Amino acid sequence: MNKNDIIIREEKKDDYRQVENLVRESFWNVYRPGCLEHYVIHVLRDDPAFVGELDFVMERDGVIIGQNMFMRTRIDRDGGGEVPVLTMGPICVTPALQRKGYGKFLLDYSLEKAAGMGFGAVLFEGNIDFYGKSGFGCARDFGIRYNDMPRDADTSFFLCKELIPGYLSGVTGVYRTPKGYYAEDSDVREFDKGFPPKEKLKLPGQLFG
Ligand SMILES: CC(C)(COP(=O)(O)OP(=O)(O)OC[C@H]1O[C@@H](n2cnc3c(N)ncnc32)[C@H](O)[C@@H]1OP(=O)(O)O)[C@@H](O)C(=O)NCCC(=O)NCCS
Repeated sequence: MNKNDIIIREEKKDDYRQVENLVRESFWNVYRPGCLEHYVIHVLRDDPAFVGELDFVMERDGVIIGQNMFMRTRIDRDGGGEVPVLTMGPICVTPALQRKGYGKFLLDYSLEKAAGMGFGAVLFEGNIDFYGKSGFGCARDFGIRYNDMPRDADTSFFLCKELIPGYLSGVTGVYRTPKGYYAEDSDVREFDKGFPPKEKLKLPGQLFG
């Protein structure tokens, strides 16, 4: 990867379809047969919690090869009250250019912008092998639990990074995933009809059936 060949900029309305295609190509058959992330971003962009200033695309030679986005959400504190935090994603890099450093570059750029806007922490579900390299740890170690999962459940997929050091010190509580991330299968199927046909495959390693 050559950093000089890359531009990261805010997504524009004209990019929407191209980005939805990119997301669909990048997530297709990775976590389930087919994917829902292209529908999710379509919905999230109109959500009041969506952070337009942190909706990024990455271009190389004038072609969009990556994207990342953030939503405002909250931790419900044990004992009452809320702590505002960010959640992130989907993030992706076009399949042909994965594992060449583009994803980490886009992630680190986005996190720096989020920190610059004054956000205190980012929490989401992901693979520590990738996100750990950008300073994420297990949210459980920060005292944060995942939605309604039991206290003793394995939530090693649930990650956290403070953007303001100490932002979550003394905070324990439950993170709430914004509603927009939960898509109805029937809505995804309907939305997907507007894209070129693609075969859904059950593959080893997928998280969802
Ligand atoms: C996940 C994704 C955004 C990472 O972007 P990328 O450009 O491929 O990643 P990078 O090359 O910057 O990775 C940096 C390091 O993170 C780790 N890493 C990246 N992707 C990984 C993966 N899928 N599994 C394990 N480790 C991974 C590796 O250690 C990698 O370094 P290496 O290639 O030298 O081993 C990209 O692969 C992608 O779009 N995947 C499909 C969609 C997806 O899963 N999005 C994330 C949902 S949480």
